[in-house]
Amino acid sequence: MGERLSGKIAVITGSGRGIGRVSAELFAREGASVVVSDIDAGNAEETTKAITNAGGRAVCHPADVTDSSQVDALVDRAVEEFGRLDIMFNNAGGALPEVTHEVTDEKYREVVGLNMDGVFYGTRAALRVMVPQRSGCILITTSGAGLGSVKGLAVYGMAKAGVVNLAKSVAEEYGPLGIRANVVSPGPIASPGFEQFVDSVEGLRAKMEGGVPARRFGLPEEIANTALFLASDEASYVSGVVVPVDGGIAGKYPTPTPEMD
Ligand SMILES: NC(=O)c1ccc[n+]([C@@H]2O[C@H](COP(=O)([O-])OP(=O)(O)OC[C@H]3O[C@@H](n4cnc5c(N)ncnc54)[C@H](O)[C@@H]3O)[C@@H](O)[C@H]2O)c1
Repeated sequence: MGERLSGKIAVITGSGRGIGRVSAELFAREGASVVVSDIDAGNAEETTKAITNAGGRAVCHPADVTDSSQVDALVDRAVEEFGRLDIMFNNAGGALPEVTHEVTDEKYREVVGLNMDGVFYGTRAALRVMVPQRSGCILITTSGAGLGSVKGLAVYGMAKAGVVNLAKSVAEEYGPLGIRANVVSPGPIASPGFEQFVDSVEGLRAKMEGGVPARRFGLPEEIANTALFLASDEASYVSGVVVPVDGGIAGKYPTPTPEMD
């Protein structure tokens, strides 16, 4: 057991699997008490058990982040169980590729609901606790699709770009109260959700891998490690920033280049 989050209370949405789950387990190993939350109650329970079986502290509170009353109840649960809230990791999200002009109203609402509304609800609920506390850390998972364009992900990218601005705004507005807000931006990370995405279009896997300077997909652990740093006091003067964790994608200038491998 480490101590980088010793004594801290964290809520992590979408922690039933993928990046959220690995983050929940890592945060707990580093001393945090974690409220594990996911729309999939069975997966959230599994993450919780994995943490407690390993000697960590966790409680399970399934919630749908697109419903603000469920998100409010999730944050209330953290305070009821542990008395405070130090880290709100708004991580739940995802989408499959769509041709933009064929997106239905229902699909539009679904993608924006999960990737933008849910992050706002989580941030707002957390701030209601963190403002009187005069401390706290908001973490948000965006995507490379929120930093630049990714074909087929216009609506998802729009929502993911929106939450970057939310973090920057919160960092300025609440910085004087000791509250930080930061964003982690995964590149292609081999989570269950990403595997579903990459297999939904033929040939996409090889094409995507070839486009990453590191020439591989990342691991959920590589996002969790960055989230851990941002959530910890090691990042006490880091606020309002986006950290790409993407094997070098965000640094590329998209001009045609010779193949030199
Ligand atoms: N894996 C990648 O390549 C990648 C790249 C960029 C951004 N991201 C982002 O990282 C985050 C985590 O994604 P992941 O790759 O671990 O995906 P994942 O699909 O493996 O896990 C996402 C989790 O969120 C949960 N979830 C979905 N809808 C929910 C809702 N309405 N309320 C609560 N929970 C809900 C799912 O049940 C699932 O457990 C997402 O925000 C995603 O957009 C992932």
